[in-house]
Amino acid sequence: MLDTVFSIWSWIRWIHIMSAIAWIGGQLFILLILLPIMRTALPRNERTLLFAQVGRRYAVVSWIALTLLIVTGFLNGERRSVAWEHLTDSSYGRILFTKLIFVAIVLVVTLVHALYFGRRITELAERSATIGYDDPKIAAERRRLQILSGVLSGLNLLLNLVVVLLAAALVA
Ligand code: HEM
Repeated sequence: MLDTVFSIWSWIRWIHIMSAIAWIGGQLFILLILLPIMRTALPRNERTLLFAQVGRRYAVVSWIALTLLIVTGFLNGERRSVAWEHLTDSSYGRILFTKLIFVAIVLVVTLVHALYFGRRITELAERSATIGYDDPKIAAERRRLQILSGVLSGLNLLLNLVVVLLAAALVA
């Protein structure tokens, strides 16, 4: 029994599962706990600047988690002797293939969110903080970007939940 618990494959799966927990758990924590509290506790400008810090820190965790998910995901596949060039030939392969498509979309959405929306919203909040008031044009642009960024984050979470459902189907 101990042989199984401490086999290299158990550790690889452990890293895969822990990375998924860190990645998706972080998103759920931000959406369900942090954001509602920040919305009631802080004025808009401070909220955006604080949220930018949270975003930067969470980005480090999420890129490490995503890298580990990809590396250990391929190892999981090797463990199951997946024929990567003929993925669609088996039912297991087709589910894995679908999961990989969703993971690819998640990666694109995450990049767009971090590199465009996160940066732009922070820039606008910093500009308002420097000039000392909310220029109506800047405020409107920030509001627009925040709504789009929220929609993108919600989409990202949904896609990730589908990835986990497909993962559950893989091991069922
Ligand atoms: C957002 C990224 C990902 C998430 C959230 C995720 C999540 C999960 C979860 C929760 C499991 C079930 C754990 C288990 O019981 O072993 C799993 C299994 C698996 N994942 Fe991922 N995964 C991701 C990316 C990947 C990638 C990129 C690959 C392949 C390159 C991959 C390949 C696999 C395989 C093959 C299994 C099944 C292992 C088995 O049959 O024993 N995953 N994944």
